[in-house]
Amino acid sequence: MSRNPAKLIPTDFSQLPGLDALEAVTIKAGGPSKKTTATGYAVTSDQMPPRSLGLSRDALEKHRFDGEVGQTLVLAQEDGTVKIAVGLGRAEEVDANVLRDSAAAFARAAADHSDIAFVISDALEEEDAARFLTEGILLARYRYVELKNEPKHTALSSVMLDISATKSREIASGINKGKVAARATIVARDLTNTPPGHLTATDFAEVVKTLGRKYGFDVKSFDKAALIKMGCGGLLGVNRGSAEEPRLIKLHYRPRKAIGHLGIVGKGITYDSGGISLKPSDPMHLLMKMDMGGAGAVTGAFTALADAGVSCEVTGWLMCTDNMISGDAYRLGDVLVAADGTTVEITNTDAEGRVVMMDGLALAHQEHVDAVVDIATLTGASIVALGEKYAAVFSNSDQLGDMVVESAHAVDEPVWHLPLEQSYRKNMQSKVADMTNAASNRFGGAITAALFLEHFAGDTPWAHIDIAGPMQVDKDDLWRSGGATGFGARTLVELAKNFNA
Ligand code: BES
Ligand code: ZN
Ligand code: ZN
Repeated sequence: MSRNPAKLIPTDFSQLPGLDALEAVTIKAGGPSKKTTATGYAVTSDQMPPRSLGLSRDALEKHRFDGEVGQTLVLAQEDGTVKIAVGLGRAEEVDANVLRDSAAAFARAAADHSDIAFVISDALEEEDAARFLTEGILLARYRYVELKNEPKHTALSSVMLDISATKSREIASGINKGKVAARATIVARDLTNTPPGHLTATDFAEVVKTLGRKYGFDVKSFDKAALIKMGCGGLLGVNRGSAEEPRLIKLHYRPRKAIGHLGIVGKGITYDSGGISLKPSDPMHLLMKMDMGGAGAVTGAFTALADAGVSCEVTGWLMCTDNMISGDAYRLGDVLVAADGTTVEITNTDAEGRVVMMDGLALAHQEHVDAVVDIATLTGASIVALGEKYAAVFSNSDQLGDMVVESAHAVDEPVWHLPLEQSYRKNMQSKVADMTNAASNRFGGAITAALFLEHFAGDTPWAHIDIAGPMQVDKDDLWRSGGATGFGARTLVELAKNFNA
């Protein structure tokens, strides 16, 4: 697959270990089984705890458990199993996020158990409840252990969801929806957690092809020679310093009667050294294997389109290369020509994301998609503006911008709409080319990056999601497991479901 000349990467190395682990889990409707060793009981903060838990509210409160969302209390039983009280908060405030979060908290409290069950009643409609509980449990139990010789981690094997005695068909359907959504996020996490030497642009294309065959979408990959013919001067320019070939990976999903055509462009920088504008060797630089998190989210989303019954056509463009230094690396002052002919003077080689994305957006525009959304770990400035929890959203169309925000909200991927302040464009004026790739000052860096991208979408309705902040977390946080979060994958699936142009 990769050049791997010294055979340093074992041939049985998997770039999708989380997906393999997911496929080994069975989730069913019903009460705790003979295998079950840990059972969670949902307890609200304002109603009677379930009798099967075996403890009164007074007794729970003596253990300082009051039923707040995310709270858990593990009760060891004489037979060696555990019962876990799981807080749901106020009964009338239970919604999708509460269920996902409580299920995640339960799955973490039961981290040493392979066979678990969750008992809950009167929570939302059964299908939705099953879906969000499934998502929370699967996402919380994700661990990236592919490269550990002795992983100290108990893999999940079976989950029983005791939601209602009658609606087993609805529950099975909800479980399936939850699995499809979790799978999208898990594929994105796997790719993003994979070390840069284990996931070159060429490897990326191979993995996406395998996923396309499995989950019902077409994949074409364009190598360096093809990119030269297509005039992708941005992707080729950033790739110049690399010993690895770049790849533009084009994904295509088409349902039988398509209503509308959505384009999605993902930043696929498999490693961002900064290039000649070299990054300092600090903890942020260490995270730069995750600079393909946008392309990872797009790939994850595509694995869900067919199973989620998306009714629009969706085309994806993943712009993949690493950003390296060498005697042939692109320089400050170089002028690159984008796929649409725009000339760009490079004033900072670390602003490489927008340079590879410009070709992707230009191609999406040429293909006359009805709307294009791009997703990228684009700027440190977006983290300064919004912190690590929120992605920044920009759009040239209020309607599309609102749709992205609503889709993200529905799947608990927090985003915030920022302005495309046109007067800041003056900071990207070039003396020799149509514009510069980086602004002349550091102010509003997430906005100037977005303004740069906007140019290439032309008159196509366009939205941009900057996921530099939420692409990863240092430690476990509810449904986010430490490491890559897979942020954006479920937002894109939701958007594709809602999209009908
Ligand atoms: N990949 C980085 C942005 C990033 C930073 C993502 C931290 C995730 C965490 C991007 O390529 C970059 O280096 N951007 C520069 C742009 C600047 C040179 C105009 C930045 O944000 O500093
Ligand atoms: Zn960079
Ligand atoms: Zn980058």
